[in-house]
Amino acid sequence: MNGSHHAFERYEAIWLRVVLVMILVFLVLIAYTALNYGQTIPRGAGRIRAGEVRAGSEFANPRLEQVGNEYVAYVQAFAFGYAPGEMRVKRGRKVTFYVASPDVVHGFMIERTNVNVEVVPGYVSKVGYTFDRPGTYKIICHQYCGLGHAKMLSRIVVEE
Ligand code: CUA
Repeated sequence: MNGSHHAFERYEAIWLRVVLVMILVFLVLIAYTALNYGQTIPRGAGRIRAGEVRAGSEFANPRLEQVGNEYVAYVQAFAFGYAPGEMRVKRGRKVTFYVASPDVVHGFMIERTNVNVEVVPGYVSKVGYTFDRPGTYKIICHQYCGLGHAKMLSRIVVEE
């Protein structure tokens, strides 16, 4: 009786260690993800009236700006397209995207990256990304927004 009791205690101790190691592994993974990919977590960047997206806001003049060593983009996501329709950036420099919609809910997803945000009328979506590989990346709307949804595209050209 006493022997099996000790055996249980030993199993308990082993499993306790396994659980602690797993928790440690998860924490390390979370920290790694946050440090390496955390900047692509969309953050609410304030509110905007849908009527101001096309007139009377930063978004009325959709553009990509170079600010020091980085870029800032003001993007309109509308039915059915994006403005600007194309952006060109240099590899290895952070791009901060501010995206707003003047009409309905759209998506802002950049292929081959983990950039994937919703663009909800009334809110500014903010997401950052550093493109390490040159190439052309499609920007895709992944929220069904009407008959032209499938044609709603833009692109980013990343140059050396
Ligand atoms: Cu915009 Cu689908």
